[in-house]
Amino acid sequence: MSLKFVQMSDPQLGFYASRHPDTEGIDYEIKNLSKAIEITNQISPDFVITTGDLMQDRLESSHADIVKKMYSELNCNYYFAPGNADLTNTPEFEDIERYKKRFGSDHYSFYHMNSQFIILNSCVLQDWSKVAGENTKQITFLEQQLQNGQQKQSSHQLIFMHHPLFGTDPEEDDDHMVLPKSQRAKILNLLDLYKVSAVFTGHWHANNILTYKSTQLITSGPITFPLGEDPSGIRLIEVDDDNLTHEYIEL
Ligand SMILES: [Fe+2]
Repeated sequence: MSLKFVQMSDPQLGFYASRHPDTEGIDYEIKNLSKAIEITNQISPDFVITTGDLMQDRLESSHADIVKKMYSELNCNYYFAPGNADLTNTPEFEDIERYKKRFGSDHYSFYHMNSQFIILNSCVLQDWSKVAGENTKQITFLEQQLQNGQQKQSSHQLIFMHHPLFGTDPEEDDDHMVLPKSQRAKILNLLDLYKVSAVFTGHWHANNILTYKSTQLITSGPITFPLGEDPSGIRLIEVDDDNLTHEYIEL
């Protein structure tokens, strides 16, 4: 039994203009997201999961409408995870509620062909100072889902969220680019306990591929303007009973 899906990350409508003062609007992202959707429809995957930062300015509701309209052009199901630009770096409950009204739940899971897909809100694992308890809620949800997936004897258990766990070293210091050590340690423990196959993240606008014990940690470049050496792109993932392989496809 095999399946294929596409990870997109950081369409982030308006990001390019925010970094280029002589530019306005969202033309850069519209062009790239259109291309990403066109390529994805040619690939015809089982579904698409986008790991956050759908738009640069969370208060620009018209951009949320454009994101939803463009994704509706996909010929397959699609799923979103929230990013810090969608909720702010220090989310409040009203930010989470606004996101949920636009894009659906901020954390959930589903099964497809005997594999389990868990989507988390990593923004509240990054900073929960204004949403007390939301970080614990995410960790508890993750552990419960991993237990459920194991009871169902899932072939693969896969996690999707915006923030990478770490950049190079599981012990590295706290930084806005990765989850803080206190939350990171809890998740790394669960990855090892449940032998999670892979964690997919974004946020960096660059590719970064690591392994932690038996788990692949895959950070993918953006739909919007890249900040690393790799171009904007999407990631195609193919999964069978034993293996998970992936490739980055340039837009
Ligand atoms: Fe981000």
